[in-house]
Amino acid sequence: LFRQETQFLKGVVAMDGLPPDDRVEICFAGRSNVGKSSLINALTGRRNIARASNTPGRTQEVNFFTLAHLYLVDLPGYGFANAPVPVVQQWQRVMKAYLGGRANLRRAFLLIDHRHGPKPVDAEIMDLLDKAAVPFQAVLTKSDKVKGADRDRTQAALRETLARHPAAYPEIVVTSSETGDGIETLRAVIAGIA
Ligand code: GTP
Ligand code: MG
Repeated sequence: LFRQETQFLKGVVAMDGLPPDDRVEICFAGRSNVGKSSLINALTGRRNIARASNTPGRTQEVNFFTLAHLYLVDLPGYGFANAPVPVVQQWQRVMKAYLGGRANLRRAFLLIDHRHGPKPVDAEIMDLLDKAAVPFQAVLTKSDKVKGADRDRTQAALRETLARHPAAYPEIVVTSSETGDGIETLRAVIAGIA
């Protein structure tokens, strides 16, 4: 699947701008700065097709990419962002409306920073996905930044959180966009989504 070329389709700021829901769609959600855009770049092998930066709140639109028969969707983050409050509220509204109301959304990948583990805001998004019956799978990011006992601790905390959410897959994918750790595994998971 990932040997084919990924292309940017469009960035959307409101639900009425979404492309037709005629393709299988997957999305990448998570707190601001968790590494959503970087993960899309690592998966697709494109250096900066999804623009990443060190500033939380970099992605402010719902960005659609096409890959073979799929739409890949890079979402704005939730939680703290370096932007004016009304602007942040607007994109978070769209992000939540998208997560709760997209008919062709087959799976949401919910990214969690491996250094920090799941936070209350992550559990809120998991609640939203449960209510909307959107199957979601947790992906730990920045695994290059965490070692040994800290790895075990955050993974255990995440497993415990996922067990409380009916829409969650129990399998956790551990990744680093920096070192490539887990990228091939995640590609295989995505390729398995028909
Ligand atoms: P928003 O669009 O602001 O919500 O952020 P995002 O979740 O898209 O994060 P982004 O991909 O822009 O990455 C945020 C920062 O984390 C950047 O400085 C990246 O270089 C860094 N980063 C992302 N993934 C990794 C990783 O696997 N390892 C390390 N060490 N840094 C990473
Ligand atoms: Mg981003």
